[in-house]
Amino acid sequence: MERTLFERLGGLDAITAVVEDFRDRVAQDDRINLKFARTDLARLRKMLIDQVCEATGGPCQYNGRSMKQAHGGMKVTTGEFNALVEDLVATLNQFKVPSAERDELLAILGPLKSDIVEVNSSEVGTPLPDEFQPAPALM
Ligand code: HEM
Repeated sequence: MERTLFERLGGLDAITAVVEDFRDRVAQDDRINLKFARTDLARLRKMLIDQVCEATGGPCQYNGRSMKQAHGGMKVTTGEFNALVEDLVATLNQFKVPSAERDELLAILGPLKSDIVEVNSSEVGTPLPDEFQPAPALM
């Protein structure tokens, strides 16, 4: 039987390393980092690991907000979405994830765009609206 994408990516340790590198890249990226100004980064790290693990067939359960809930009111633009995908691709390339696995992961995440992007514009670096309510920090 074909191994799951989770297994082919290298399992939970590899996914954790990818998420941590990706988080650090996003934090350095002025095209998108304003959106994370009030985010609990420990929670984000856990949620991203759980989401990628579960979505690729691994033994995790994502218990975070839906993509619509998590990003609603954040006013993410199309340009900012593309910037985040670029950062993810840079991370996957750094870890030498083969193109087949990279493309499978992007095909899983790409369709979430319509739940995340609220502003159809190529603009980047737009601020987080004051009214945005971040998710509670992890205990
Ligand atoms: C396919 C693309 C994306 C995926 C899979 C994704 C996934 C997630 C997940 C799993 C969470 C955690 C939700 C929770 O805590 O319950 C989250 C939160 C967040 N995402 Fe995304 N996201 C994507 C794109 C983006 C983009 C393009 C931006 C902004 C440029 C963004 C900004 C944020 C921020 C700021 C939070 C934290 C919100 C808070 O503090 O409550 N995300 N995302």
